[in-house]
Amino acid sequence: MSAPTASHVGAVRDKLLSMLSIPFGRLLPTLVPPPVDLTGKVAIITGGNSGIGLEVGIGLAKQGATVYLASRNVSKTEEAVSEIVSKVPASKGRVKSLTLDTSSFASVRAFSKNWDSLDAKIDILFHNAGTGSGGQDFSPEGFPVLYATNFVGSFLLTYLLESHLSEDARVILTSSTAHYGGAFSSDFSLKSIKEDYEPGYHIPAALAKAGVVPPDGANYVQTKGMQVAFAKLLQEHFDRKAAEAGTPSRRIAHAFSPGFVATPIYGKLEETGFSVDPLFWMLRMTNTVLAVSARQGASTGVWLACTKDNAVAGKGMGGAYWDRMNRRLSNVDMMSKDNLERFWVRWEADAGVEWR
Ligand SMILES: NC(=O)c1ccc[n+]([C@@H]2O[C@H](COP(=O)([O-])OP(=O)(O)OC[C@H]3O[C@@H](n4cnc5c(N)ncnc54)[C@H](OP(=O)(O)O)[C@@H]3O)[C@@H](O)[C@H]2O)c1
Repeated sequence: MSAPTASHVGAVRDKLLSMLSIPFGRLLPTLVPPPVDLTGKVAIITGGNSGIGLEVGIGLAKQGATVYLASRNVSKTEEAVSEIVSKVPASKGRVKSLTLDTSSFASVRAFSKNWDSLDAKIDILFHNAGTGSGGQDFSPEGFPVLYATNFVGSFLLTYLLESHLSEDARVILTSSTAHYGGAFSSDFSLKSIKEDYEPGYHIPAALAKAGVVPPDGANYVQTKGMQVAFAKLLQEHFDRKAAEAGTPSRRIAHAFSPGFVATPIYGKLEETGFSVDPLFWMLRMTNTVLAVSARQGASTGVWLACTKDNAVAGKGMGGAYWDRMNRRLSNVDMMSKDNLERFWVRWEADAGVEWR
């Protein structure tokens, strides 16, 4: 076995710091991202009608952005638009709703086609839609619902919208401290697997039991790890494209953990019992007492979406994982380049696209 390196030690330290903010988040100082003028900027927030996404919408609208809330429930999204306008009256006419179900490729493609007809540039693409429930269900295209909703639909959406991204666009992903629980095999399939859970890809291999449907928590941690990997690989993609075009690389991708946040997501886990899914059971039972507000949870994401801080937006600084407005080492930083690149090949296979 090889000796731990400085980055391994750093990753363990950062994991502990992130874990500690779960029970003690409410005791930590309030995060207040300094405002940035976003007048004329356009943002899309997936899952923007509730919880953290809604607070991101309020935060960006306050700073002058035009905000599109992209969610699957139209009436709930219209209510969210009204809520933002009532809290930020100056945003009237600048906050809009669009329909998107990230778990369905057909819906993702329809969204992108609709955006083609709007032909508007995108300055901030905020992948926030997420679920902790999926159970035994598979998406219309045959993927575990959690994987489809939390990850691979966003991969396809980013691919389809790439031509609309402005030169200095930001792609931000709401990941989770739970990503540290993700565990990927070095030889997961590079071909698409449907109507099944692949150990070492959809769920940590150690949690796979023959014939047993994995708990949602096992599936969730993997999707959150993939988001962190995507931020890193997408940044490399942006940098490569800019180099090929002979222009400076100005597009930025980052993933962040919002911490442990009191949002409706825990109410949607009502069926989760301790024996089935101890992680989600514990979070469900304690969120009203320990979790921070949705505004606090959103603050790191709002900051990443617009700050000019060199640590976020400077040359070579993209592709990172953040918690409480601090750059942190992630599980992904411990992966070899070869292992990391396997993800992109598999995501292309699952999304049915070639994206180089
Ligand atoms: N709360 C936490 O402690 C915590 C911690 C770490 C990470 N996160 C992440 O934060 C993000 C936001 O979650 P939240 O806590 O704010 O929960 P939330 O209030 O339930 O918000 C989740 C949003 O995602 C939407 N969504 C779910 N499935 C979708 C689909 N198939 N297509 C489009 N939209 C979909 C939901 O819409 P519906 O209302 O229609 O379901 C809702 O708008 C998620 O990615 C979650 O994993 C949360």
